[in-house]
Amino acid sequence: MNAAIRSVVRSALYNNIECLGFYRGYQGIIEDDCTDLSLRSVSKILGQGGTFLKSARSLEFMQKEFRDKAYDNLIKSGVEALIVVGGNGSIAGAQVFSEEFNFPVIGIPASIDNDVYGTDNSIGFDTALGTIAEAIDKIRDTARSHNRLFFVEVMGRDCGNLALHASIASGACFVILPERKFQLVDLIKRLEEGKKLNKNSSIVVVAEGNTYGPSYKIAEELSRVYSDYEAKVTILGHLQRGGSPSSFDRVLASRMGMAAVEALKLKLFNKVVGVMKNEVVYTDFKQVVSKQKDIDSHLYRLNEIISR
Ligand code: F6P
Repeated sequence: MNAAIRSVVRSALYNNIECLGFYRGYQGIIEDDCTDLSLRSVSKILGQGGTFLKSARSLEFMQKEFRDKAYDNLIKSGVEALIVVGGNGSIAGAQVFSEEFNFPVIGIPASIDNDVYGTDNSIGFDTALGTIAEAIDKIRDTARSHNRLFFVEVMGRDCGNLALHASIASGACFVILPERKFQLVDLIKRLEEGKKLNKNSSIVVVAEGNTYGPSYKIAEELSRVYSDYEAKVTILGHLQRGGSPSSFDRVLASRMGMAAVEALKLKLFNKVVGVMKNEVVYTDFKQVVSKQKDIDSHLYRLNEIISR
């Protein structure tokens, strides 16, 4: 997100547009907590994870009286347009706000879940994926040495994109996703196939939002009926959401930041910036908010075939 802010600020100033940064997203607008953003104020942040403007899930912004307050503060500060960096919740807030006050807003998708419709990748996804792959490589050393089965739980509240990519990137033998029905018998079948091929350790990637249940429950149920392996669980948690961004994410965020400013210049309002097939695209808030980004069925099939 820092790379996106940096790019917005520098692209805006290049076009003689002044920038204010609101701390903690919508909450900062409600509280009128902001700072002037100059060219140098965004230096040295490109390689830092998180956001120097901080982030918050603002419950107040869900109430009309606080959105009124936010609008008043924007007008008072002379703000003519808003660029919002965030996931589906932030984009949904942006849609409501832009419609309620007829206020120009542009969204930049940032979510490690990669669940925002209208872009191939959202900011943070690639970095999180790299962290997961590195973690699983390390877990695998124990799995192999001790002949163990590891359930590795990754983030993804409603979307299995991160889990599916992680499974492919780390060579897991099975993946459990919110978008696909999971049955213990399918996992046992896969483990049996592995046994016949002399496999003595395995990694199963579990998306936290799967509908079957938490990893510990799955591991416990498996252990009750399948004793060939000692099953262990690792929950990667917030480890996945921090750290220095990958080069891919830095470039993506920089592209999106500039594209957001260009959209405002072209008076393309109330849209989310995306990059699809390596082209910058803009998708209406309405479409982004109403559509669910599904997992890539080709990747799912690929994973099915090569994870044996
Ligand atoms: O929405 C992105 C996400 O990373 C989810 O995958 C995860 O469930 C959630 O955030 C965790 O949010 P928090 O840090 O607020 O607990």
